[in-house]
Amino acid sequence: MTYAETYAAWQADPEGWWAAAAEGITWDRRWERVFDRSLGTFGQWFAGARLNVCANALDRHVAAGRGGQTALIWDSPMAGRVERFSYAALRDRTARVAGALAALGVGAGDRVVIYMPMVPEAVIAMLACARLGAVHSVVFGGFAMAELAKRIEDAAPRAVIAASCGLEPGRVVAYKPMLDAAIAASAHKPEACLILQRPQAEATLIAGRDHDFAAAEAAAAPHAPVPIAATDPLYVLYTSGTTGKPKGIVRDAGGYAVALHTSMRMIYGLGAGDVFWTASDVGWVVGHSYIVYAPLLAGCTTVLYEGKPVGTPDAGAFWRVAADHGVKVLFTAPTALRAIRQQDPEAALLARYDLSRFEALYLAGERCDPPTAIWAAERLRRPVVDHWWQTETGWPITAGFRGLGLFAPKPGSGGRPAPGYELHVLDDAGAVLQRGETGNLAIRLPLPPGCAPTLWNDAEGFRHAYLADFPGWYRTGDAGVIDADGDVSVMGRTDDIINVAGHRLSTGAMEEVLASHPDVAECAVVGAADALKGQAPLGLVVLKAGAARNAADVARELVALVRERIGPVAAFRTALVVPRLPKTRSGKILRASLRRLADGEDPRPPPTIDDPAVLAEVAAVMGQEMKPR
Ligand code: COA
Ligand code: AMP
Repeated sequence: MTYAETYAAWQADPEGWWAAAAEGITWDRRWERVFDRSLGTFGQWFAGARLNVCANALDRHVAAGRGGQTALIWDSPMAGRVERFSYAALRDRTARVAGALAALGVGAGDRVVIYMPMVPEAVIAMLACARLGAVHSVVFGGFAMAELAKRIEDAAPRAVIAASCGLEPGRVVAYKPMLDAAIAASAHKPEACLILQRPQAEATLIAGRDHDFAAAEAAAAPHAPVPIAATDPLYVLYTSGTTGKPKGIVRDAGGYAVALHTSMRMIYGLGAGDVFWTASDVGWVVGHSYIVYAPLLAGCTTVLYEGKPVGTPDAGAFWRVAADHGVKVLFTAPTALRAIRQQDPEAALLARYDLSRFEALYLAGERCDPPTAIWAAERLRRPVVDHWWQTETGWPITAGFRGLGLFAPKPGSGGRPAPGYELHVLDDAGAVLQRGETGNLAIRLPLPPGCAPTLWNDAEGFRHAYLADFPGWYRTGDAGVIDADGDVSVMGRTDDIINVAGHRLSTGAMEEVLASHPDVAECAVVGAADALKGQAPLGLVVLKAGAARNAADVARELVALVRERIGPVAAFRTALVVPRLPKTRSGKILRASLRRLADGEDPRPPPTIDDPAVLAEVAAVMGQEMKPR
């Protein structure tokens, strides 16, 4: 079937289409209704069905006689190791870790926070939770203690699984002291912590609360998969919203399994035995869906890479991993390609590796600028496919479809809508715009299987954030345009979220940190264009009257404060002290004008600007202080 035929088949009978897709999953009990409009905030998929996602990802492949096939390859230039796990071995380790968690009192519905770097035990921990029907919540290692504490407090986990440390180029990041401090700061205290000791920095265990991961695994009896309702949560993944409070994106089990399984063939063109490498982190949605669940549900071999695109050891690292493991499809963020291109503009290192098994490169996380996409396509001589999605959706909204013969979208475009998504561009009043017109990208309800049905403990927050502005639609928060061919281009966020090196961050959260500094009267953080990271946060602060401080000292303190409170991943490196901030007459800070100013564009202030002279003052400070980007 072609893309057009498949999309039309879904449009003609959405529930029938998803029911057919659901045959790819092994159910303990089949559904009563494919879609039940009466449940949740906008309805739920596969109501009445029961399944275990871990059993679908592991046990059923072993039962089908493929236990000897490699499920997971861990390639860590940081630790200097490569390890392979067959489906049988991964199933056995996961079953034991599930047994260890059960021995600590973890059962179906309990939350487990996972704070781990890119080690196989992170994947095993996630799957072990899924095996028990427990709800995991993975926290990215680049977040600081306070962010971890917020997530522990909101998810209220019975247990935490963590590693003693992560490995970043040039430094060992000790996770355990951050975990201890986060638990101390959180009103909720988990009963138990399972700590994976890594030799680079062993942690001190707290008697009574902390348990050694390896010892607990060795002592545990394997646990069988526990079927849960398709509508039960598989995980909660916190993501940046517009304020300092992260949003707990809920993923329900059944729809997610169906959507991911379907996406592997339809979008990436991969099936059992194929090697898929997603160079992201298990702490992000891309890692949840395309390092862990989707490739294993499809019986592929997934690569878990603990390293960087450059510097571990060089800009040929990605090509080395792809060649060594016979990667068929690689999925990464455009920023990684820009980093490689910066260091190896002619891609000379490519020639060292045999990429004969490599077929396509998929990109997401931020818009891929056409020059980067063209550079990669010319050097690799393979299709480079940009595809667009969000933590909320769990799988691509638009893509190129290798499985449906449509896989080389125009550079700058994120492809066409996946079956399941009726995507339109709306004006601010909610009217559907014509093709070629730019506006708010919105999805007509219901969202397809796999997409978040709600926010953790906050159904009202879900309605308010996504469903309220345009009744009957899901507001993506992205602006974009659909061209005459139906190809979608995503231009950027319509809210205060920015994408820094493919990491989703909230400028509102950074503003809260800046505003907490005793000398800061008011502030604004905007995402300024950055040649490597796509965007980089830029802080503009006005000091309190009488704060007789050296601007450079305050700026240094602010940079340190954001790193301490949010984490190094915020990549907050520039704070500028300005005399005033530009505002409308009603007092709203003109962030869009500030962003344009930072990018060297005409600031285009709205007619409601209070005092246009302020923009010139800010421009003067930027001109003096900001190095050319
Ligand atoms: N644990 C602890 N610290 C982390 C971390 C982790 N898991 N991940 C990143 N950090 C730190 C980095 O060490 C860096 O610290 P520094 O300020 O001391 O240098 C900081 O957070 C910023 O990281 P990052 O923005 O990633 O920049 P970088 O300079 O380390 O690397 C790239 C730049 C482009 C190579 C890198 O961002 C990259 O590989 N990006 C791919 C993005 C990606 O996979 N996105 C996922 C969505 S698909
Ligand atoms: P996250 O939830 O971290 O996956 O970030 C989602 C946001 O990243 C989206 O709302 C977009 O703003 C941006 N994004 C992700 N993929 C793309 C893409 N292919 N093109 C443009 N923007 C993207």
